[in-house]
Amino acid sequence: MRKVLTGLLIIVLLLAAVPVALLVSGTIDSSSLRMILNVMTGLGGPAATAGKVQQRLQLPEGFSLQLYAADLPRARFLRFTPAGDLLVSRPHSGDILLLRRDADGDGHPDAVETLLAGLKRPMGMDFLGDWLYVAESNRIGRVRFDSASGALAGDYEPVVEGLGDDGNHWSKTLRVGPDGLLYLAQGSTCNVCEEADERRATMMRFAPDGSGGEIIATGLRNSVGFDWAPWSGDLYATDNGRDLLGDDFPPCELNRIAVGNFYGWPYYNGANIPDPDMGPDPLAAQRQPTAPAHGFRPHNAPLGISFIDGAGWPQDYRRSALVALHGSWNRSTPDGYKVVSLHWGEDGIEERDFLSGFNREGDISGRPVDVAQGPDGAIYISDDYAGAIYRVSRGEDVVAWEPAVAVTASRLDRQPPAWLAAADLEAMAERGADLYGYYGCRSCHEEGQNPVSLAGLSQRLGYEAVIEVLRAPQSPMPVFPLSEAEQRELAVFLLTRTPDQPGP
Ligand code: HEC
Repeated sequence: MRKVLTGLLIIVLLLAAVPVALLVSGTIDSSSLRMILNVMTGLGGPAATAGKVQQRLQLPEGFSLQLYAADLPRARFLRFTPAGDLLVSRPHSGDILLLRRDADGDGHPDAVETLLAGLKRPMGMDFLGDWLYVAESNRIGRVRFDSASGALAGDYEPVVEGLGDDGNHWSKTLRVGPDGLLYLAQGSTCNVCEEADERRATMMRFAPDGSGGEIIATGLRNSVGFDWAPWSGDLYATDNGRDLLGDDFPPCELNRIAVGNFYGWPYYNGANIPDPDMGPDPLAAQRQPTAPAHGFRPHNAPLGISFIDGAGWPQDYRRSALVALHGSWNRSTPDGYKVVSLHWGEDGIEERDFLSGFNREGDISGRPVDVAQGPDGAIYISDDYAGAIYRVSRGEDVVAWEPAVAVTASRLDRQPPAWLAAADLEAMAERGADLYGYYGCRSCHEEGQNPVSLAGLSQRLGYEAVIEVLRAPQSPMPVFPLSEAEQRELAVFLLTRTPDQPGP
């Protein structure tokens, strides 16, 4: 990995010579320089390279982002070994990779090795003592694992066989519960149907030797991720709502799993709304559906979930989890494609963006799959579209791995843009105010039922971020035909107004 990075660094430095000369001669500004560098180094083309993805991403203030590992096509689930190496499952390649912990501190795994290969679509993984358990699509297996050396210490042996993996949703997620039992989630074969195999669309539980398998919860269409809340021990599972009922129904779900409960599929969607295709539940006399603890936006496809040890994080992460939203495939406008944080509070569960920016008006650069907190307290996120693992940490301890990728921890400017020094701010703000009125920005930002307030904007966004919003706004904010000069004027107007002045 080192060698490749050094090579890349040399190429970048060589390529940088021309644009740097332009920069020095004053014909190009620094943000354009970065873009040119990205294009020249292949980081900014239409392909979803990890570098390009990373450059577009946003985090809440006070967090920083690193590209921890790239070139891991179709990386799915994550699990840290007791010694802090990171396992990555890749169902489509039939393997599990071991990413050696970053002992040399360069911000990347010290090595990437294949730990297990030739498995049938392995996805879920967890540890119990010195056993590593793996959920393949058709069985659960285990192998002794020596954490200290990060190597297998025995032969792989199946403990549960004969699981169904036909149809859709064949992947299986496995975790070892706080009770030392194996928990297994398996999805449905179909979008909506009665399952022939009663184990599909359920959560099951087994003894560590694979015996005593029992279904503990039913009606779970595809609960790809689950985890236990450390403050209560409650088990929460994500669930993907059904397709083909339009863009805005049904919500995807977070369910609090209790033994014996029925979570509705295929007869109910969301908060127990009867399914239009299935008719009444034939078992309605025996079971009542349990409503979700939280609804995600329809088709957002929540996958991995991980409760966070928020030590050193802002207070409102004390009772929180991070959830990877893989993103919609069947909405007219793509939605999801981010990691959100869920915050448990007096009034229920609040959802906020955590790592976003993979979806720019339908231009998709990544799809988050799983979230794991490392022994270093940092958050690791897998992306099976960009083939990457991202690392999110508190503060500014970013290790720059190559100079072309500027990582924005917050959306405030790292340094003031070059054009600001010579700008006549007074005149620009006035022209910006005119543009603000001319394009009717007020109609969404100050008027109407739920205006998107721009108050205090300068605490949230810097010039670069405001200009980026104007260049590529999130729907429903339209793209306005603004020149670069006009974008700057609007940015100056928005960021220099003090609260007692009229306007935003
Ligand atoms: C049709 C409604 C609409 C109009 C018109 C509109 N916006 Fe927006 N704007 C939005 C919405 C909605 C958002 C939030 C988008 C999101 O979720 O990120 C937004 C976000 C923004 C943001 C980022 C705010 C933040 O805190 O991140 C800025 C800056 C902004 N708009 C400026 C403008 C300016 C300047 C104009 C006029 C040139 C304008 N908007 C016109 C709907 C609109």
